[in-house]
Amino acid sequence: MCGIVGYLGPRPAVEVVLAGLRRLEYRGYDSAGVAVVSEGSLRLAKKAGKIANLDAELAGAPMPSDGVGIGHTRWATHGAPNDVNAHPHLSYDGRVAVVHNGIIENFAALRAELTGSGVRLASQTDTEVVAHLLARALEDAAPGSGPADLADAMRLVCRRLDGAFTLVAVDAQDPELVVGARRNSPLVVGVGQGESFLASDVAAFIDHTRDAVELGQDQVVELRPSGVRVTTFDGDEAEVRPFHVDWDLSAAEKAGYDWFMRKEIYEQPEAVANTLLGRYDVDGALRLDQMSIAASELKRIDKIVVIACGTASYAGLVAKYAIEHWTRIPCEVELASEFRYRDPIVGPTTLVVAISQSGETADTLMAIRHAREQRARVVAICNTNGSTIPRESDGVIYTHAGPEIGVASTKGFLTQLVACYLLGLYLAQVRGTLFGDEVERLMAELEQMPDTLRGMLENQDQVLKLASDFSDNPSVLFLGRHVGYPVALEGALKLKELAYIHAEGFAAGELKHGPIALIEDRLPVFVVVPPRGRDLLHDKVVSNIQEVRARGAFTVVLAEEDDDEVSPYADVLIGLPKVSTLLQPLLAIVPLQLFACELATLKGHDVDQPRNLAKSVTVE
Ligand code: F6R
Repeated sequence: MCGIVGYLGPRPAVEVVLAGLRRLEYRGYDSAGVAVVSEGSLRLAKKAGKIANLDAELAGAPMPSDGVGIGHTRWATHGAPNDVNAHPHLSYDGRVAVVHNGIIENFAALRAELTGSGVRLASQTDTEVVAHLLARALEDAAPGSGPADLADAMRLVCRRLDGAFTLVAVDAQDPELVVGARRNSPLVVGVGQGESFLASDVAAFIDHTRDAVELGQDQVVELRPSGVRVTTFDGDEAEVRPFHVDWDLSAAEKAGYDWFMRKEIYEQPEAVANTLLGRYDVDGALRLDQMSIAASELKRIDKIVVIACGTASYAGLVAKYAIEHWTRIPCEVELASEFRYRDPIVGPTTLVVAISQSGETADTLMAIRHAREQRARVVAICNTNGSTIPRESDGVIYTHAGPEIGVASTKGFLTQLVACYLLGLYLAQVRGTLFGDEVERLMAELEQMPDTLRGMLENQDQVLKLASDFSDNPSVLFLGRHVGYPVALEGALKLKELAYIHAEGFAAGELKHGPIALIEDRLPVFVVVPPRGRDLLHDKVVSNIQEVRARGAFTVVLAEEDDDEVSPYADVLIGLPKVSTLLQPLLAIVPLQLFACELATLKGHDVDQPRNLAKSVTVE
C-alpha cells in the first residue's frame, strides 16, 4: 500500500507532489512526507497522520517552491506510524532521499551490514536502508568505475533487494534527475509537455497529463529534462508500453457527494453498463477480447478455482453458484491467503480465476504465481488497467468501473459480479452447456440491470431512515441462502469496516446449528430472500425469518417488492425488483452498502478511509 509521487518539471514541485498525494491518500494515511532538491540541497518535511497534518507543518515552515520533488503517504508495515518512520528517508550524508512502497524482505541483513560499517539508522523502517545503500554506492563511485549517477546506483542497489518494492529517489547533487524502480509493486510514469511524473496510480497526475507509461517488473525509470528512460535492473534498455488514461479527473473527485463511497454507490449503474460494453455480438456470441485462452483449452478445463480476498472473495462465492449451474464444471472458491500456503491441487486443466479490484493485492498475486507454477491457466477479473495481477495472468476481464477511491469496495464488487457472470456465460457458450436461448435471456437481463439499479437508487429513503434508527445498536446480523449468503457476508463486512460495530453474515440454514443463540430481543437481522421461483429456496428462507422473529429479532427483509408470502414476517420490507435468482446479488447488496455508509456517517466516522485499512493491500 502507500502512495508515491515523483515530479520533475517547471512547476513548484511541493505543490504538484502534495496535490498528487491527496489523490493517493486512499492507499494509506498513517503519515505523509515530501522532499525537494533545491539549490543543491535536500529539503524535507514529514508528519504522522493524514496529509492535513503535513499541510499544517508546511504552512508553518514553507519549503522552496522550485526544484524536483518526491512524496509519500504511508500505510505502516515496519515501524510505528510516527514522524521518524514517515517517508521520505534520508541517507546518512543527507545526499539522497527515498520513498518506498512494499516490503524489503532482506532488510535485517542489510541493516546489520550498514550498522556494522558505522551507519546509524534513525528509523525502524525497512526503507531507510535503501537511502543509505544508494548514498554508499554514490560515495564509492570513482572516475571510470562504480555508478555514474543515482540511476546507476538504483540499479545496483535494487539487485541486492528481496521482496516487493516501488522506490523513488532524488539526489541533492543532481537536481535534474528523479529515479524510480519497481518490483511487485505499482509505479506508473506520466509523460507531460516538458515535465514528467511518477506515481503509484495515474490519479496522482491526470490533471497534468493523460499520457502514461506502464513500468514492467524489475525496471528502473529515470526522469530528466530531456525525457524518460527505462532500463532493467541490469541496465539494458527496456521496452515500455505507453497508454492513454481515458477517465477524467472529475471521476476521481466527489462530484458533490459527502463521500467517495456514496458517489461510487450511485455510479454503479454506469459502472455495470461499462463492464457489459462490447461483450455481446449482434449474432449472440459473447466476446471476451482479452481472455487469451483458446476455446479448445477451455473445453478441456475440468476444475475452476476462484481466488480472491475480502469483498472480491464474496463476488467469487456468487461466481461459484453461477458457474457451476451454467457450465457444470466443479468450481471452488478460496481465500487467496489460504490457497497459496496449503499445497492446493491444481494443474494444466484447472482454470484459476483471480478477482481483484486493485490488481495489486499481494495475497492474490502470490496465489496466482503459485497456480501458474503448477501450470494452471489464470484469468484475472480486475478493475485496474496495467496492474500486476492481470499482467501476470494468461487473460483478463477488465471491469471498467473507473477509479474506486473509497476504501470499502462497492462498484468494484458489483462489476466483479458482472464479470463473473460474463465468464460463466462465456464458458457455457464455449462448452455448449446452456440450451436454447438461455444465454440470450440472461444477457438481456444483465443489460437491463443499469436501468434497474438506477430505479432502485432513486428510492433509498427507507434504508437511510433505518440507519438512523439503528445507529446506537451494538450488533447486526445478516442472513441469506444460495447467492443470498455471499450478499449477507458482504453486508456484514461493509458494516464492520465502516461503522465498527459487530456484524456477522450467516447462511440462513446454518442458523439452527449454533448462531441462533445470538438472537435476542430487538436484535436487527437483515435477511436476503430469493425471488419466488419454482424451487423451495424461497420458502425455506421465509421459515428462517419466522424462526428468528419468534425469538424477538427485528427483521429487515430484502425481498421482491410484491412478495406477500414474506411480508407478514418483516418488520421492515425493502423491495427488490424482480430478477433471476443468480443475478439477485447485484440488487440486494445495494441497500446494504447504503445502510453501512449512512450508519458510519451518523456515527461520525471517516467513511472513505476507515481506521486501520488501506485500499490496496500490497503486503501478504
Ligand atoms: C472491503 C474491501 C476489501 C477488498 C480486498 C481485496 O470493502 O474492499 O475486502 O475487497 O482487500 O482487494 P482487491 O479487490 O483490490 O484485490
